[in-house]
Parts: sequence; C-alpha cells; structure tokens
Amino acid sequence: MKYFLGIDIGTTNTKAVLFGQDLRFISKGSAGYALQEPRNGWAEQDPQEWGRAVKEAISEALTRARVDAADILGIGLSGQMHGLVMLDDENNVLRPAILWCDQRTVKECVEMTEIFGEKALIDITANPALPGFTASKILWVRKHEPEVYARCRHILLPKDYIRFLMTGRYDTEVSDASGMQLMDVPARSWSDDILKGLAVERAWLPELHESIEIAGYVTAEATEFFGLAKGIPLVGGAGDNAAAAIGTATIKEGRAFTTIGTSGVLLTHTDTPRIDGKGRVHTFCHAVPNAWITMGCTLSAGESLHWFLTKVLQDGITIEQVMQEAENSPLGANHLVYFPYLMGERSPILDSYARGMFFGLSDMHTRGDLIRAIMEGVSYSLKDCYAVFEEMGISFSSMKICGGGAKSKLWRSILSNMYNCVVEADNHAENGALGVAVLAAVGVGAYSSIAKASSCTNVGFETEKPVSGAVEYYDRGYALYRKIYHDVKEDYKILMALD
Ligand code: XUL
Repeated sequence: MKYFLGIDIGTTNTKAVLFGQDLRFISKGSAGYALQEPRNGWAEQDPQEWGRAVKEAISEALTRARVDAADILGIGLSGQMHGLVMLDDENNVLRPAILWCDQRTVKECVEMTEIFGEKALIDITANPALPGFTASKILWVRKHEPEVYARCRHILLPKDYIRFLMTGRYDTEVSDASGMQLMDVPARSWSDDILKGLAVERAWLPELHESIEIAGYVTAEATEFFGLAKGIPLVGGAGDNAAAAIGTATIKEGRAFTTIGTSGVLLTHTDTPRIDGKGRVHTFCHAVPNAWITMGCTLSAGESLHWFLTKVLQDGITIEQVMQEAENSPLGANHLVYFPYLMGERSPILDSYARGMFFGLSDMHTRGDLIRAIMEGVSYSLKDCYAVFEEMGISFSSMKICGGGAKSKLWRSILSNMYNCVVEADNHAENGALGVAVLAAVGVGAYSSIAKASSCTNVGFETEKPVSGAVEYYDRGYALYRKIYHDVKEDYKILMALD
C-alpha cells in the first residue's frame, strides 16, 4: 500500500495526516507549540518549534499506522498564512516569525498606501495594505531592527520554511504567496512594481509555483530529522485556507465554506479574481490553477474560546464540558453580545485597534451564557463578511463548515441561522491536511485533476437548516452588533493610548 502525507502547520499545533492512495484517512499525529505575545497586539512564534512539531507529528502518524516512510508517494504542506520568517546567508532563523494576527504594522501600512495609492495597491495585490500580511512586516523589521534586516538573505512563509528544512530549497506557491502582498494576484506572479516600490530584494524571495507543481524532494540530510525517506516529492501545497478549500471540494463557482479554527474564514471559489474595491475581504490565488478565492477572515474565532478556557477559566475544564453548558443557554445567550476582536480585526472592519468585549453582562449570566455569546459573536463577525459577499454579488449554492468549531452542532446551527442557509459539516476532521494530500496526489500524477481526486474525498456530511424565529432574531442581533462596534470604534484608540 502507498500513501500521501498532508502536513498542516497551524497556529496552535501541527498535524501530519496520512491518506491512502484512494485519499481515505489512515492516521494522524499532532504536536503543539506556544504563541508569544510580547506586547498587546503582537504575535510571534519560533520557526524551529514548527520544525520540532512537524517531526513529532510525522513520527506519530507513521507509528500509529505502522507505515514505512518509503511508501509515501508525495507530501503536501499547508500552513498558517502571512507569517514572516527571515533567514541569514547560512540559513539561520534571524528572529521569531511575526504572525498573521500581529497588529504592529499599522504605520507601515499607511506608508505602503502612500507609496502606491490605495487603488493601485488593490488593483495589483488584490488587497489593501493590511498589518496581517507579510509585506508590512518586512518594512517593520527594516525600520525597527535594521541589524536583523541587514543580515536577511531569505524570506519565507511558515510552511515554506518547513519545506526548506525538508528539501533545502526556497520555494513557495501562489495561494500562500498571495498573502505576502508582493504578488500581482490577477497575474499569479511576483510584482516587480510592488518589489521596486517597497525596495524589497527579489533575490530574497522563494521561487513561485502553482500549488500542484512539484517543488522539491526530501534530501538525504532531512531524512533522519523528519523520519522521511530520501527523494519523496513535495508539491507546492497551499496556505491553510486554500488547502481547506480543496479539502472541502470548494473548487467550483457557487461553493463556499466557513472554517472555525484559530481564525474564522468564510471563503468562496471564483473563476476570475473578484476584488472588493473597499478591501474589506481578501482575494488570493486559489490552489486550483486559473482560479481565485475571495475570503473574509475574523482573527479570533476558535481563539476566543481557547482564550476563555485557558486564560480566564483556567480550571482544567474541557471544551466538551463548556460546549454542553452553552447548549443550555438560550438563543442570544440571555441578552449578551460578544465581540471577538481579541487581536484586533481583519474582515470586514480592518481595525487593528479594536479589542474584544462582552456587552450586556448581568449577574444572572452563567459560564454557559458566556460561551454561547462567544460562539454567537464569532458568527456575527462571519455574518459581517457574508454581508460584504452579498454586496459584491457573490452568491453560493452550498456552504460547508469545517475546522474545530464544526464539531459543535450548536455552532453549526448558529451559523446556519446567521447566514440563513443550509450548512453541511463533512466528516473529515482535517480538511487542510486532506487538501494538500489531494494536491500531492495530483502533482505526482496519481489523479488527472483536483476535481477527480476530490470526488474520492466526499465521505458524507451532516446538515443544519435555518430555523424561522432564530433567523429573524440574529438579523436584529446583527444590526445591534454593528451599531455597538461603530459607536465605540474611536474609543479603542483612546484606550490603546492610555498610559
Ligand atoms: C488568513 C489568515 C488566517 C491564517 C491562520 O488570511 O490570516 O486564516 O492563515 O491560519
């Protein structure tokens, strides 16, 4: 028997998942790491920790299924997008990676907009300057850590740093590289205009591939550390959201999914680049050749629950227990509204100063009410992205739900009522890893197309339907949610300036 290996380097952990040649799940390994938050709104991770976690996750997946690494036909890498990894001329990591949810680069984004003008920047990169994206992080390091910048020779994204450790090559692919904001996204190539305008060295960037192209082979040096066999091909792979799009078969116009992982994303496939002129949702290249994705990203989705459990409750209670308590809280969580802006917010409000909030706390509220309010608040933020899609004339005929949040029937039903559409949760626990295993299977020629490979991965799903009453309640709740944010928007800046 032969296998494909999908590896997803997430924000809280890395998952390595083995699939058979028919793309059915065989086994999984995972290993976690910490998020460093040295200042309010900053988020960093040590890339070497990802390396250690990938090694442990692969070993666990292989051991569980008693699979010999030599039987792996191809590897796909997926990972958290946008993170800045800088290497020196001897490939040493120069500083901790600055992550997708870091908000320190507001000033650099203003500078970028001044250099190009907002319209030109959106026309070329398909997005406005955003602190989450990689380009502004590069400018920040140049300004604040000139000694680090002077030693930089290579810039990589998180999954591509792991690829470098496995293959010794500097490669990336279009879906993840779109989020660096150095590409001409409609043309699917690096943008000379952007690189020149920002004075970023072209030679520091990895080689750009389509996601299904082979981009490196496991080297002899990497075999021992990762427990892999020499010569296994790695395909380009995909940023985690494009990877989940492949894993959920969001590979045709009219298909969309919502993922609730650390971040929450509403994503749809488009055959041509669909760009919001106001930049409120992102447009990136899809991992499907000649296709694009439009997506809204709320930064603290699963992270809001994780924060509440680990930093507020801190009593060892499990997610399953609190979810059960949330089931007992009524629609609207007894008049409590949560704003999930713990790390500022991206789509659609693009506000680095915003922070989280419970509105309407009462002495009668229980832990279950707070958890339900968190789930509803994250969903309001996703509904806010959905509203932009509607304004852009993007509509869907199917909506899948995936990520850790999809395990909760309650969360799925909240989303169904918020969007007022049927939602489908498929039975794959790991859509990102599956997505890049599919890319690997196509890349090595085991399947003739992504569509053919995807047709093997549909393993049935549970649906939730919108319920009249709840839909109308959430429409009114959403209007209030938007009003409250707009009422306090300017006050976040005053809060952040208090010393
Ligand atoms: C997308 C984004 C997040 C990360 C986290 O733009 O920033 O979804 O990819 O996984």
